[in-house]
Amino acid sequence: MTGRAGEAPVAASAAGLAALALAGSAAADTPPAYPQGAASFQASCAVCHGAAGAGLPSLAPPLLSYPARYAASAEGRRQLAMTVLYGMYGDIAVDGKHYAFRMPDFGRLDDAALAALLNFVVFDLAHAPAGVPPLAPTEIAAERGHALDGAAVREHRKSVTPAEP
Ligand code: HEC
Repeated sequence: MTGRAGEAPVAASAAGLAALALAGSAAADTPPAYPQGAASFQASCAVCHGAAGAGLPSLAPPLLSYPARYAASAEGRRQLAMTVLYGMYGDIAVDGKHYAFRMPDFGRLDDAALAALLNFVVFDLAHAPAGVPPLAPTEIAAERGHALDGAAVREHRKSVTPAEP
């Protein structure tokens, strides 16, 4: 019985996506700082990362802490822009847990929409501290110039994360 307990949240989040969407972004007491980003997140990202950004075990990583860390450095900010523009594939570790599924690319969304999306992730989900500047559409635009494939995005990620197990 204890061995199965860990699987319950997967089923619960798949079955209760609508309920989680309400809890994750539209809680009456704390409206998101980036409501437009929140709406795009529910439309484009929640299916894999969960409505509240907690991820899905062994499928998609949680977005509750690493994005805040990335947003605090220039290379990390580039990494965030690259990830949404070009996607990512190959094994990564987040908090010691491995993920090796494929993140699709979202380059069809415009710079302002992607910046709003990332700001929702960085500030509303991952709670970056005050003092971290919001991502600007120009930072997304700067990465459109040099297209990468998802494997190269994963390679660049190594320069912005601590050594992974
Ligand atoms: C089809 C499932 C899927 C969708 C939809 C998706 N992602 Fe991902 N995402 C992933 C996977 C899988 C990874 C890890 C890729 C790997 O293992 O190389 C990932 C990685 C990430 C990362 C990097 C995390 C890290 O620690 O480096 C960010 C940021 C991210 N996604 C944000 C988003 C945003 C924002 C959206 C919506 C625009 C989105 N994702 C939509 C599956 C998805």
